[in-house]
Amino acid sequence: MKTLLTYYSYSGITEKVVGMFKEVLEKRSELMVQRLKPKKEVTSFFGQCIAARAKKECAIEEVTLDAGGYDTIIIGSPVWAFAPAPAINTYLAKVTGLSDKKVIVLLTSGSGMGVKVCFKYINNILSSKGASDISEINIPNSRMQDRDFIISSLEKILEQDPRKVELKIREG
Ligand SMILES: Cc1cc2nc3c(=O)[nH]c(=O)nc-3n(C[C@H](O)[C@H](O)[C@H](O)COP(=O)(O)O)c2cc1C
Repeated sequence: MKTLLTYYSYSGITEKVVGMFKEVLEKRSELMVQRLKPKKEVTSFFGQCIAARAKKECAIEEVTLDAGGYDTIIIGSPVWAFAPAPAINTYLAKVTGLSDKKVIVLLTSGSGMGVKVCFKYINNILSSKGASDISEINIPNSRMQDRDFIISSLEKILEQDPRKVELKIREG
């Protein structure tokens, strides 16, 4: 099992969640983690909101864009103005090899406003790139001290067997 975890974090919260995810994933799979770094970081809250709202991309430092060799792909972003951060937009536009892959989308959020919209936006892009099994994890800032919640959010998804879920749906 090989897992590729790619994330962006501005103020370090998504990074902390990724740190906890790493502990779980390293035990189960060969793990590659990469943090997206914009070549030029926008630092004003207003500028960040405007760019995210407009679904802007930004130039990022080089990362692996071919996810073809991995079984599970995890993409983590903070929610910015109901949308992913621009570095994630760049990654979503450029990533390849998602066909028939299990993809987990991790969002971290403040108030929780716009989380659903953000998932929907990301999931549409992933589906258009062939991802067949997309799961969502939202970690609100208010749950950051709850390590068990964070770890079990990931474990629940990793333990899901897509064939079992499909059978359940078929059986009604
Ligand atoms: C520019 C900006 C816009 C944000 N917009 C939202 C939002 O629409 N909804 C929400 O729940 N949280 C929003 N937040 C809060 C962040 O999503 C949250 O604090 C996140 O965990 C930060 O992750 P990071 O530390 O990895 O950058 C916003 C934060 C910033 C900086």
